[in-house]
Amino acid sequence: MTVDSVSRRKALQVAGLGALAWPLAGAGSAAGASTEEAEASGVSSESSSEHSKSEGDSTMNTMTADNLRSAFGGESMANMRYRIWGEKAKEDGFDNISRLFTAIARAEKVHATNHFVALKDQVGDALVPSMGGFGYTDTPENLQGAINGEVYESTEMYPSFLEVAKMQNQVGAQQSFYYALEAEKVHAEMYREAKKAAKTGSDLDLGPVQICLECGYTVEGNIPGECPICGASADEFQTFA
Ligand SMILES: [Fe+2]
Ligand SMILES: [Fe+2]
Repeated sequence: MTVDSVSRRKALQVAGLGALAWPLAGAGSAAGASTEEAEASGVSSESSSEHSKSEGDSTMNTMTADNLRSAFGGESMANMRYRIWGEKAKEDGFDNISRLFTAIARAEKVHATNHFVALKDQVGDALVPSMGGFGYTDTPENLQGAINGEVYESTEMYPSFLEVAKMQNQVGAQQSFYYALEAEKVHAEMYREAKKAAKTGSDLDLGPVQICLECGYTVEGNIPGECPICGASADEFQTFA
């Protein structure tokens, strides 16, 4: 186990989300989950202050709303960055690495969409500060940029956003952050494997890549019978082959 994976696991333990399956999966809109359901599933439902709003209120807690906007910005940039780096990988002769970038870009669109929908009541313009990696060099270096972004998201950004959402009793945001957190860990590992190959001048040995269109879970090989993160069925997956 790498240091990164250990620190990620600790972050998840702190967040009380060591198990993979999202507790409210299959319950329809998480926004409609009752306090009893949330408590039974381990999702925090305690209000941290008298100012906390319950999910579904027209006023979302300011910090969670800001975090959702920031995450939407970050995922939107990641989607575009991976598409650009995917085109560069193809130019560099790495067809499979290009396909990996394209598939994971689709997963980032899922995350951006989930965050955007979770902000449904937050209508209007906003300045959005988000971390975004830059650099357009050769494919191994571009892959390192992708790894850096995925590690930042999965070890720092999403664990902290998730904790705040729990404190503020924002169940929809918790689900959106949790889905992204789990998927980004997989992305980091896939990009590490791709970089290993690219550094030797070889393309990645890569089968079909499956993307869950509900949570962004990403896996190489056959479509799983059920998504291990969100519980979506096989027909919710998109294949990049
Ligand atoms: Fe990712
Ligand atoms: Fe999923």
